[in-house]
Amino acid sequence: MNPMKRYRLSVCKGMDCKGNGSDAVFAAAKEELAQRALVPRCEAYRGGCYGFCHMGPNVVIREDTGRKRDPLSPEDFQLMGWPGEVYYSRMTPEKMRRVVTEHIAEDKPIRELFGNPDEDP
Ligand code: FES
Repeated sequence: MNPMKRYRLSVCKGMDCKGNGSDAVFAAAKEELAQRALVPRCEAYRGGCYGFCHMGPNVVIREDTGRKRDPLSPEDFQLMGWPGEVYYSRMTPEKMRRVVTEHIAEDKPIRELFGNPDEDP
């Protein structure tokens, strides 16, 4: 673990993904971060709808560069293509716990869980 690295983890919260379990995914993220004492290392919050409801629930993780979050930024509604940005689709609480354990705690994004933003609805 690189102790200097920090993350922002966002779980979408539109109606479709809520219906598919995004609240449970968010709860699992919060729980796992707390259990592993990773709260100081990763801010977890609810994003908006990323437009990938057909692949939801969706989780976007970005490296925290210390940039102040702008409430008007489109970052909670779309992928930004920023370095270190990772998009996970079809998340479950189990997958979320694994992402916290490997991506957040060990700095190892899990390629096999990456979403494909070009996948057709
Ligand atoms: S609500 Fe999850 S992507 Fe639309």
